[in-house]
Amino acid sequence: MKLFIDSGNLKEIEALVPLGIIDGITTNPSLLAKEGGDYRGLLKRICQIVKGPTSAEVVATDADGMVREGRELAAIDEHIVVKVPFTKAGVIACKTLAEEGNKVNVTLIFSPTQALIAAKVGATYVSPFVGRLDDIATSGMNLIAEIVEIFGNYEFTTEVLVASVRHSIHIVEAARMGADICTCPAAVIEGMFKHPLTDIGLERFLKDWEKAGLR
Ligand code: G3P
Repeated sequence: MKLFIDSGNLKEIEALVPLGIIDGITTNPSLLAKEGGDYRGLLKRICQIVKGPTSAEVVATDADGMVREGRELAAIDEHIVVKVPFTKAGVIACKTLAEEGNKVNVTLIFSPTQALIAAKVGATYVSPFVGRLDDIATSGMNLIAEIVEIFGNYEFTTEVLVASVRHSIHIVEAARMGADICTCPAAVIEGMFKHPLTDIGLERFLKDWEKAGLR
């Protein structure tokens, strides 16, 4: 399974990329707004660091505007993936941008029917938001299971990019279901490394070694 960082923060990205486990980046208007400044320059820098798919979202709400902004975003770097929200305008824009050869990530997916439509119009990725479904007492991971099952029944090349990930269990369940990608906040990826028994075990190994006076 591929791991993306859901962030526009250079420090977070630069801290994790050297681990060799990061396959891409997703951003959204809220994440880029948090960083402020020249977002085009930031996206370019992120692409240079990660050298992998980097999603950048349009903010237009009409199809023509989305296509125009999508082309501008795609021109920033070869790694840019154009993100469009799942609306009728977004579906039209996805079809146009995909037919032009751009990679498109259809985001704000909350149902299997939305994912199916996005795949039919050539989305490279669909981004179902599991955390936000969990937040309203609806199983986000059930949605992933449905989308993976549906995509597996047909020849769709669209990848399931699990988004709005809140903790490691989302990652474990996504991997068990065969989702293609999880995009996670940096803190969630950091959490993947931690286990108290690993720390306790290593401390005991080193203490026993020191006690034995081995050189
Ligand atoms: O960036 C898309 C998605 O991962 C954001 O989810 O719920 O953490 O804002 P959320």
